[in-house]
Amino acid sequence: MSQTILIETNEDLKKIFSLNLHTFVGTDVIHRKNAEDAMELLRILPQVALIITKCKVGNEETAVKLHQFLRNEGLKSELIVIGECPSLADEILCLQEPVSWEILIKQAASYLGVTLQDSTNKVKPDYFPVPVYYFYDIQKTPCDVYIRIKKGPNDYQYVKRIHSKDVFDKNDILKYESQGLKEFFIPKDYIQYFTTFVTNNLVEKLEREDLTLEDRILTTANAHEIVREKIQQMGLDQAAVDLSDASINSMVQSVKNSPEVTNLLKFVFSNKVSYAYQHSHLLALMCHYVLSKQSWYKQEHLEILSFVSFFSDVTLKSQMQMQISSLKELTESNLTDEEIRQVMNHASEAVMILDQHPEANEYIKTVLLQSHGKLDGIGFEENPGEDLHPLSKVFIIADCFVKTLLNPALPSSKKEILPILRTRFTNPSYQKIIKALEQKFQ
Ligand SMILES: [Fe+2]
Repeated sequence: MSQTILIETNEDLKKIFSLNLHTFVGTDVIHRKNAEDAMELLRILPQVALIITKCKVGNEETAVKLHQFLRNEGLKSELIVIGECPSLADEILCLQEPVSWEILIKQAASYLGVTLQDSTNKVKPDYFPVPVYYFYDIQKTPCDVYIRIKKGPNDYQYVKRIHSKDVFDKNDILKYESQGLKEFFIPKDYIQYFTTFVTNNLVEKLEREDLTLEDRILTTANAHEIVREKIQQMGLDQAAVDLSDASINSMVQSVKNSPEVTNLLKFVFSNKVSYAYQHSHLLALMCHYVLSKQSWYKQEHLEILSFVSFFSDVTLKSQMQMQISSLKELTESNLTDEEIRQVMNHASEAVMILDQHPEANEYIKTVLLQSHGKLDGIGFEENPGEDLHPLSKVFIIADCFVKTLLNPALPSSKKEILPILRTRFTNPSYQKIIKALEQKFQ
């Protein structure tokens, strides 16, 4: 899938443009704040096919700066400017504001060589797909909900399945899922309203004090899936920020009261919790185990490491990508070149996403950037050095422990995993962390 950078300051337009570019043009939209921010990304992602930018962001001549940058670096990315930009008008397509999304996707499609006829046939514009897990924690919906039935090649019929007044529960949704249903469809005019409704419901549920531990873990796992899906589809919006905040608080709460690892594993496996959340939750738990043995430990350290656990692999699309914890595993994997690139850059790309998150402080960004032992967030370090932040070291050991534990092809008992860690991470402070983990298990 091609990638498009979008620089748009109006939040509503940002959502509308992203959703339609993704749906009709089939391009992955990455949001950037300004020219500097986009250039930073282009240095590591030079293959971005298209840049759509506001002419100016504040006082910055964003479009002019980017045009200059592309030329200087010899990059082939196409550029579309939103708003009048007289100095570029002769060379670059500048769309007069207000720009309708229909015009924008038409231009984007022609630059990316996508025939809109094809893409509109693939997805009917009147309905948007929503994964079934969006329905796990709600009992009603604010609008009618449809399923899609294939009538012939490129010909679909939408059938109303849940009425806006119906009341249902998770078991009803699981029944649909067990019959093979992966997504429901929402009429396009309601999609924003629907996702806000789901997000608000989830935040409310996660903030309840009376949730059982099991319900808390399952609800946080579901919220985690929704945040990942939202970020991968449309970037980090306010709803994803609110939902991630509530989820991380909930995760910290459940980690502090967690059952021991074997029982926790049984629970997450039998409840089909996603690999992504199993990893995040266990990772936060292992960090908690190590931290609780440190004399310098404060509550905020657990909050920082839980935050990083929640977001660490947020850009990765498959379990196979998330399981990788070394360069050797990456080169021996069956991943495509693009998937390998995503794995190589996932830490630095997650930090860029967190630039838009108001709660992501410098500690969080540092640990996330160093989460695979590299100072620049790119690739994996086999035996990370002493120059990393102390919290990064705790995170790295915990991450490697959990990835080994969850990988069916690798040892799964603590007794076997700890020696593997001891051999790989030879520097003294890492050895101390492994020791702390060992003591916790005794
Ligand atoms: Fe990672």
